[in-house]
Amino acid sequence: MSNIKSIGILTSGGDAPGMNAAIRAVTRAGIYSGFKVYGIYRGYKGLITDEIEEFSTQNVSNIIQRGGTILKTARCKEFETPEGRQCAYDVLKRHNIDSLCVIGGDGSLTGARYFANEFQLPIVGLPGTIDNDLAGTDTTIGYDTALNTIMECVDKIRDTATSHERLFFIEVMGRDAGFLALNGAIASGAEAAIIPEISTEVDQLAELIKNGFRKSKNSSIVLVAESPVTGGAMGLAQRVKDEYPNYDVRVSILGHLQRGGSPTAHDRIIASRMGAAAVDALLDDQRNVMIGIRNDEIVYVPFSKAIKKDKPINRDRLETLRRLSI
Ligand code: F6P
Repeated sequence: MSNIKSIGILTSGGDAPGMNAAIRAVTRAGIYSGFKVYGIYRGYKGLITDEIEEFSTQNVSNIIQRGGTILKTARCKEFETPEGRQCAYDVLKRHNIDSLCVIGGDGSLTGARYFANEFQLPIVGLPGTIDNDLAGTDTTIGYDTALNTIMECVDKIRDTATSHERLFFIEVMGRDAGFLALNGAIASGAEAAIIPEISTEVDQLAELIKNGFRKSKNSSIVLVAESPVTGGAMGLAQRVKDEYPNYDVRVSILGHLQRGGSPTAHDRIIASRMGAAAVDALLDDQRNVMIGIRNDEIVYVPFSKAIKKDKPINRDRLETLRRLSI
């Protein structure tokens, strides 16, 4: 049994729909188990500058359906330094906060890993990012909502693409990972997905599109993951335009609207389950783990594995997309 009496919760890095559901779950499950719970505002930045408030169950009512994060979020350079982390630890001690729940993506959990090791502080992470690029969990909180947003946007763009018989390159988020682009393409019936994990030549792409037009398709849609590796939608569209000037090409960058909106049922449910599991993990004396869900079961994933950047893209899905785009 653990000696922990209090939990501090923070959200960090890019916000993701479902973060509020996770905050609510950790707060309520924590209070249910007898912990004091503290909300830490603005991620690691607010931990250093002492923006902390004790939470009751009321602080988290009426938030499960809201996008963004009531705790606000930030990317904090200072926390990347040993001095910054020492300062954060001193603040925690001042408040008698003896454990942390960090909700965020790769960068946030990397920070959590350093912090936990340096100060022997019990920290549990929750995977909160639309990118789905944390290993050890089938999906991350926010990914499903973002995917649905992408699908709805592409459905709308398809109306105009078809009317004008145009080729559209639509850029989606995902930084170094192609999950949103690939599964967004399957869900919206796009012709192709250009993702950082797989290199695609302009010729290959043009051939595919040409075949599509020949077979009487009157528009084409290609999803492109934002990444220096893919060159982004602008870069790719320019290259195709240069080589095939007869194509009527347009670009649409979906941008930050992918991060907003009310979370889907799936994201609310996984956030609630993971939040409650984070409290169980602390009660169980777990350290340095991210809570994941694999095959519908809660799993504890060591931070070192979750942030390794080796979550594989499912290549069968690329093949499915290729076969269905004829
Ligand atoms: O990590 C989530 C993410 O949405 C990435 O897909 C994207 O590259 C990045 O955040 C954008 O971050 P910012 O809002 O800081 O520009």
